[in-house]
This record gives sequence, C-alpha cells and structure tokens, in this order.
Amino acid sequence: MTARRRTAILISGRGSNMAALLAAAADPAYPAEIVLVLSNRADAGGLARAAEAGIPTAVVESRPFGRDRAAFEAAVEQELARHGVELIALAGFMRVLTEGFTQRWAGRMVNIHPSLLPAFPGLDTHARALAAGVRLHGCTVHLVTPGVDEGPILAQAAVPVLEGDSESSLAARVLAEEHRLYPAALAWVAEGRVRLEEGRAVIAAQPGASAPALRNPA
Ligand code: GRF
Repeated sequence: MTARRRTAILISGRGSNMAALLAAAADPAYPAEIVLVLSNRADAGGLARAAEAGIPTAVVESRPFGRDRAAFEAAVEQELARHGVELIALAGFMRVLTEGFTQRWAGRMVNIHPSLLPAFPGLDTHARALAAGVRLHGCTVHLVTPGVDEGPILAQAAVPVLEGDSESSLAARVLAEEHRLYPAALAWVAEGRVRLEEGRAVIAAQPGASAPALRNPA
C-alpha cells in the first residue's frame, strides 16, 4: 500500500462530517490519514470529538484577524506545515478563503456543500431549496477554487424533497448522505484518481491508475 496522504480537516462547528471522515480514516486501509483537525473557533463542538478520537487539534481564531484574511491564513498555514499536511478537507468551515490560499492548495483541497451544485451555492441551502419547490436536493463534494462553491464537482448524492418537509427534516436527510459521500470522495483524491479535463473532474476507475498530476483549474 502506498503511504496514506496526510490530511487536515478544517471545521467551524459541530463536525459531523469531520466525524464521518475520522471514522473512515480509522481503517488503516483508507488512503487518507487525518493528522490534524483545525478550527477557526475555539467553541467548535467538533474539537472535543476529534480530541476524543485521539486526533491532534488546533485553534486559529479568525475573529482577531478581522478582515485580514491573508494574515489569518498565514497562521493556518503554519499549523498545516507543522503537521506536514498534504490534503485539506473543509467540513463546515465557515470562512471564505483567499485566491492565494485556494491556488496554493489547488487540487489538494476539497469541500462538502449541502446542495446539488451549481444550484444553491452559499448559505441557507435547505430553506432555499424548499422555497424553490425543487423535488430533488442533496449534497456535493468538490475541489475548492477561488469562486465560492464553484470548484470541479467530484461527487453528488440526491435525496427527495417530501411533502411537509421542514428545513430541519430536509437537512437531516441530506446530512445522512453527506456522511456517506464525503469519505468516498476524499478517498478518490487521496488515491490520486482525480484529474481535471477542461475544468471538470474525471475520476479514474482504478486506484493509482496513471492519473496525471492535478493542475490548477484556473
Ligand atoms: C454541512 O451541512 C456541510 O455540508 C456544510 O456545513 C455543514 C457542516 O455540518 N458545509 P457538520 O459540522 O459537518 O456537522
């Protein structure tokens, strides 16, 4: 087996997707090893869950940096470097990243978003899906590029929108799919199976198949 890719999970909140990734990575055969959980908020519930699982945690509070996103990211980069991080999985990380940061991590940073992108980028996706009357909703794992929620799509899962759904019932149905989808999609990246063709992600069938190195999609 080739070396597992050293991966950081970045969170801001409860960390249920983080927990799903930690559970997958607890299997030594999983191609990503979670070496760091980093939060931009000291009160993120996920930090305690990560610590319980024996994963190193770090807090880089974003608030003191105000609008200086680059300075905040420099502090984050220090933690990533200290832990030898190769891949980043954003999991409910509520900070918009600069173009510089996303370009440095191009092809090596993934995010999960609670909608079927390109529908409903941004916040309040479940309420907006209900208001729009869509019959299918879901979640997307994508590579992160400078445009928020715009990167090449790696994987999606759809759920039905049912009569009488509330924002929370719909969110719960989507979240169950997120927990299934994210570990699978992160594994593809960690195995080097993802390549980009004209800005779209193509997943090689075989782990380790000769996927050319990821290029910056920009
Ligand atoms: C998830 O719905 C995820 O798709 C979105 O933020 C939420 C985070 O939830 N990006 P959790 O912290 O993983 O439970």
